Amino acid sequence: MPFFLTFWFCISTFNIISPLGADEVIYVQVGDNVELQLSGRCDSYYVHWFFGRENGLELADMSYVGRKHVKHDDVWKDKLSLSDKPSLIIKNIEENNFGTFVCKSFDSEFHIHACCFIFSALVSMEETSPVIPGDSLTLSCNVETHRKPSVFWINPMGQREYPEIAETRHNGEWACVVEDNGKESRFKLPVSVVDFSSTSEHLFTSTNFPLTVPFLITPNAFVQQIPTKIKSVQWFFIPQTSSDRQSIFSISPKNEPQVENPRGLNYENFTKGGNFSLYRKLSSVDDRGNYTCSITFTNGFTISRTVLVEVLQIIPSPGTDLISGQPLNLSCSTGGPLGPDVQVIWFPPKTSSLAKDELRSGHLMIPRVGTEDSGSWRCELRRSGATLTSAVITLKIEPILTVWMMVTICAAAVILILLLLFLTCLSFFFYQRKMRHLRHRLCKCET
Ligand SMILES: *[C@@H]1O[C@H](CO)[C@@H](O)[C@H](O)[C@H]1NC(C)=O
Ligand SMILES: *[C@@H]1O[C@H](CO)[C@@H](O)[C@H](O)[C@H]1NC(C)=O
Ligand SMILES: *[C@@H]1O[C@H](CO)[C@@H](O)[C@H](O)[C@H]1NC(C)=O
Ligand SMILES: *[C@@H]1O[C@H](CO)[C@@H](O)[C@H](O)[C@H]1NC(C)=O
Repeated sequence: MPFFLTFWFCISTFNIISPLGADEVIYVQVGDNVELQLSGRCDSYYVHWFFGRENGLELADMSYVGRKHVKHDDVWKDKLSLSDKPSLIIKNIEENNFGTFVCKSFDSEFHIHACCFIFSALVSMEETSPVIPGDSLTLSCNVETHRKPSVFWINPMGQREYPEIAETRHNGEWACVVEDNGKESRFKLPVSVVDFSSTSEHLFTSTNFPLTVPFLITPNAFVQQIPTKIKSVQWFFIPQTSSDRQSIFSISPKNEPQVENPRGLNYENFTKGGNFSLYRKLSSVDDRGNYTCSITFTNGFTISRTVLVEVLQIIPSPGTDLISGQPLNLSCSTGGPLGPDVQVIWFPPKTSSLAKDELRSGHLMIPRVGTEDSGSWRCELRRSGATLTSAVITLKIEPILTVWMMVTICAAAVILILLLLFLTCLSFFFYQRKMRHLRHRLCKCET
């Protein structure tokens, strides 16, 4: 029976290369693991691995009867191992391990050898990480080979690009692609460009909650450079109801006197943690609008980020203090249209007769409130099941009876006071009359 033995190789133990002919070209980086694997099951075999050329430096040999031997010295120390696949594994490959590998295998009849070349690829960034936007960005991909593979860079969006000046969109994982003989090897290189963190640019809060407009800078490694690399920081606000751009703060980290701030907002010491967020203890409806933070670097380049802030508010009409039987309208809104995927849900007090219903409208019309509707009414904004924010008001509803009793008591009190006043006046009048009478009589006696 003829005995077939084919060879195939795999890189990094994960990327399996398809079965191949005699000469295989593999590109790997220093530090990678390589597995040179023979495919095809054979019952009886002897395999020898050489480095450089056939019958060159013998690296390893193994056989079906259980012999396994690898070279342990020099540049191969702790690098080689054999597996029963059978394959030769080279761990943590270094400069000295790149080259040509020859494998000879045979049984009683056949005698085949195959060859593979392992070349080194080295990816690097010239600048120290992180790079500041506007500074130069130089990526290099050195492939040590006498062959002529095509080498190019793929940006984090998956497009071919060769960067020169760093931009925030360059942030992420780049790949150097080495194309040789229709086969592609990729070498990843993380590139870190200073930018705002990717927090949400659409913020929901309510008149019951604080206002925190998030502006965080990444990566953390940049924070120590803030005083030297940032020229100025500016925050702006455009209200929902107008298009006037208002300046909130404008500072430079070197001389940091706080500028007057008409909106009562605050920020932390951003040289500590790169936190440029604006903060106030309680949000108000006047906070609705777009907030922009612009950071200008010492190289003149500016990055900015805008966050749209929506503030939820409950408006009760005619008010929160009511008498049972009165009509009540409750509106729960951000002052503008909600997104099509945003729902409003009401949670009346447990005692309310409306507590059982699903109240999903921005405007509730209650024709007659009752005392059982007293308490906290909460309205929530939700998007795909997640709560965005919520607002609460407390209604105080008096029974109508108490109101009439109050009116009666007040009226009685007024009548009583008036009566007392009348009696006092009357007694004073009589007293005066009596005195005058007495004086009259005394005068008569004298004459
Ligand atoms: C706020 O920004 C959003 C998104 O950029 C924009 O659609 C909206 O018109 C802006 N609103 C104001 C008041 O500038
Ligand atoms: C940033 O600062 C704000 C207050 O100014 C604070 O609420 C927020 O938690 C801080 N964020 C981080 C990540 O430190
Ligand atoms: C901010 O923090 C830095 C570093 O922690 C410190 O040197 C600086 O004095 C602080 N600035 C203010 C205004 O507190
Ligand atoms: C409630 O809203 C309706 C429709 O908008 C309006 O006709 C009515 O006058 C409102 N009632 C109160 C008490 O505000």
